Amino acid sequence: MDFAGRTAFITGGSRGIGLGIARELARRGANVAVAGRSGADAERAAADIATNGINARGYACNVANLAEVQEAAARAITDLGSVDFLVANAGITRDKLLLRMTPADWDDVIATNLTGVYNCAKVFASHFVKQRRGRIVTISSVVGLTGNAGQANYAASKAGILGLTRSLAKELAPRGITANVVAPGYIRTDMTDDLSEEIQRKLLESIPLKRFGTVEDVANVVLFLLSGLADYVTGQVINCDGGMVMA
Ligand code: NAI
Repeated sequence: MDFAGRTAFITGGSRGIGLGIARELARRGANVAVAGRSGADAERAAADIATNGINARGYACNVANLAEVQEAAARAITDLGSVDFLVANAGITRDKLLLRMTPADWDDVIATNLTGVYNCAKVFASHFVKQRRGRIVTISSVVGLTGNAGQANYAASKAGILGLTRSLAKELAPRGITANVVAPGYIRTDMTDDLSEEIQRKLLESIPLKRFGTVEDVANVVLFLLSGLADYVTGQVINCDGGMVMA
């Protein structure tokens, strides 16, 4: 896969899965715009990624705020010439059983994980339609397919991403723009390292391939969907979960 001359805008790209996707794209020639809540972290990640011939920039952008997304997108398009790929990856958890979940726990997760994807898709769909090309990949979770005790807010946001992305795929297909979802299982990042050893052992038992995923495992699927190999793929959900969830 060669992404020379292409540019990707990756939300939550300063660490974890988003950083992994940004690195793998840059390794194959893409320019990258790393968007994160902290501008300093995003710029540090971009400086780390930028190598010979690769333009990487970092932007402060809270995806829950449409005006911030519009501004970061406009700056990225000016700085990098255009944007061809949106990877809507930013996400948070506020895990609690429903009876203890506060309205703020609910609202924060929906605002970042679901409204954030809406905001980014809205801004970049308009850019992609005007330039007559573009690809969208959203990052959901297997939990959006199965539900999970203690994650009603997170699971609802991740399930919402499926409906949102499939609708986008239908709306944008006549313009030749694809939109697909990657649903990771348990991937080793800061988000999952906090889990107790007991929980990690139990989780491993539920994974047919008997290992946690890596950020590169997820990046590989995202890169496939952004590449020419996936020209005829849209509105799909691809699980990257070691076989945890088989539909
Ligand atoms: P992480 O916590 O390591 O990274 C999340 C990134 O999103 C961070 O850079 C954070 O600053 C950014 N972010 C959070 N809120 C934001 C906001 N309002 N605006 C802009 N950026 C924001 O998480 P990780 O593990 O890399 O997860 C990335 C995505 O993958 C998330 O959407 C997560 O739900 C999803 N995922 C992760 C799994 C895992 O096992 N790690 C499993 C399934 C899905």
